[in-house]
Amino acid sequence: TDMGTLIQKGTVVTAQATIAADVLIEDGIIKEVRSGIPSDGHTIVDATHMLVLPGGIDAHTHLDMPFGGTTSADDFETGTRAAAIGGTTTIVDFAIQSRGTRMRHALDAWWKKAEGKSCIDYGLHMIVTDLGSDQGKTGLDDMDDMVREGVASFKLFMAYPNVLMADDATIFKALKQTASNGALICMHAENGSVIDVIVQQALAEGKTAPIYHALTRPTIAEAEAVQRAIAMAEIAGAPVYIVHLSSEDALNQVREARDRGVPAFAETCPQYLLLSIEDNMKNQSFEDAKFVFTPPLREKKNQAKLWDGLKSDNLQVVSTDHCPFCFADQKTLGVNDFTKIPNGGPGIENRLQLIHHYGVNSGKLTLNRFVEITSTAPARIFGMYPRKGTIAPGSDADIVIWDPHADHTISAATHNMRVDYSMFEGFKVKGNARQVFSRGELIVEHGNFLGKIGRGQYLRRAARGGAWQ
Ligand code: URP
Ligand code: ZN
Ligand code: ZN
Ligand code: ZN
Repeated sequence: TDMGTLIQKGTVVTAQATIAADVLIEDGIIKEVRSGIPSDGHTIVDATHMLVLPGGIDAHTHLDMPFGGTTSADDFETGTRAAAIGGTTTIVDFAIQSRGTRMRHALDAWWKKAEGKSCIDYGLHMIVTDLGSDQGKTGLDDMDDMVREGVASFKLFMAYPNVLMADDATIFKALKQTASNGALICMHAENGSVIDVIVQQALAEGKTAPIYHALTRPTIAEAEAVQRAIAMAEIAGAPVYIVHLSSEDALNQVREARDRGVPAFAETCPQYLLLSIEDNMKNQSFEDAKFVFTPPLREKKNQAKLWDGLKSDNLQVVSTDHCPFCFADQKTLGVNDFTKIPNGGPGIENRLQLIHHYGVNSGKLTLNRFVEITSTAPARIFGMYPRKGTIAPGSDADIVIWDPHADHTISAATHNMRVDYSMFEGFKVKGNARQVFSRGELIVEHGNFLGKIGRGQYLRRAARGGAWQ
């Protein structure tokens, strides 16, 4: 029988409380959380001077994703291993429906990508590109089918015309469907049609360098789409979740809605909190392509507003939008034309380090809020709570022993993501994962992955009002 693991003498941090307590794990589940649990025959983990956190949840990743004429560089093996080393024990990745095909094909394809590879537990969102003919009925039925499979959220694009963009009718139908099936619509909110006109004009003027990716996507085009998404959700009587929110203008729209009691939610990402056009795209060289993702980097003044948004709960989640492309042979697809640079950046490994250092150590966020935005809130919003996202009896023993004093320098030379650059090259952070447990199994110690490749399980997530797990 499993004699269990006892994490002793640490400081347990949840979204609600910070307490000195031991944590007893048996059969992959948290059994007890209190001080003074007897050692008995348990395997002892000494967490003196350490924080004991619920494993991180990254609700926005793109592993092994065909995009921009190539495929994101991390697959489920390399991407989830890097995630685990950084203290993330659950991801929710985006399966993507190809136009003219059923969502079930995409779900099967993504299970195949993950099977035998995922090192941590994973859920899937479904990117909806097509609701089919027949007044959209086939596609809407498909959405209900997906919800039964534990795909409790869908992403729609208001950007990327002719590739992924959904028109307002499609978006509105999908929103209405979630009002009844309890799923959540995740919106990529940018006015793709307007942006496309600006982009074509820039190209016609010979503006082909990477910085024009950022300069052709005004923050107002993001704010307008956020406002429109929320308006359509309000009419449909459904909640809505804005992904990778990047600017003050867009945040103002979310705040205005939330102040009126509208169930609008939003995430931001470390790159928008810590990087900027001024700091990262000033070379005016092709190196800037490392920072070509969508929405783009913004002016530095937006950063403080996003941190304020996280503090005030107008932003609920920090996820990475991890979508890595190697600089040497993928980003260079756009060397003569910024529109051909595959959009996306790497970050799955560094989220907790960055938010802990620049959020908690700098005094912008409490430890409890840090845990909430990186684990508890995504678990709740995406139907995984309380199995994931907290340290409490009955929850999966997904636990990070966090050393708040560990110094770490982020670099492509030492990171575990399968990509040849870091967006945070040379950033010095204090605080890092020392040990990581997934369902009670020690999978990471001092930066080394110890688990079996492919040990991660598919998570059937619950819709609002749903019971399946
Ligand atoms: O540039 C990005 N964000 N690439 C990934 C796809 C998306 O829009 O999230
Ligand atoms: Zn997006
Ligand atoms: Zn994304
Ligand atoms: Zn220490």
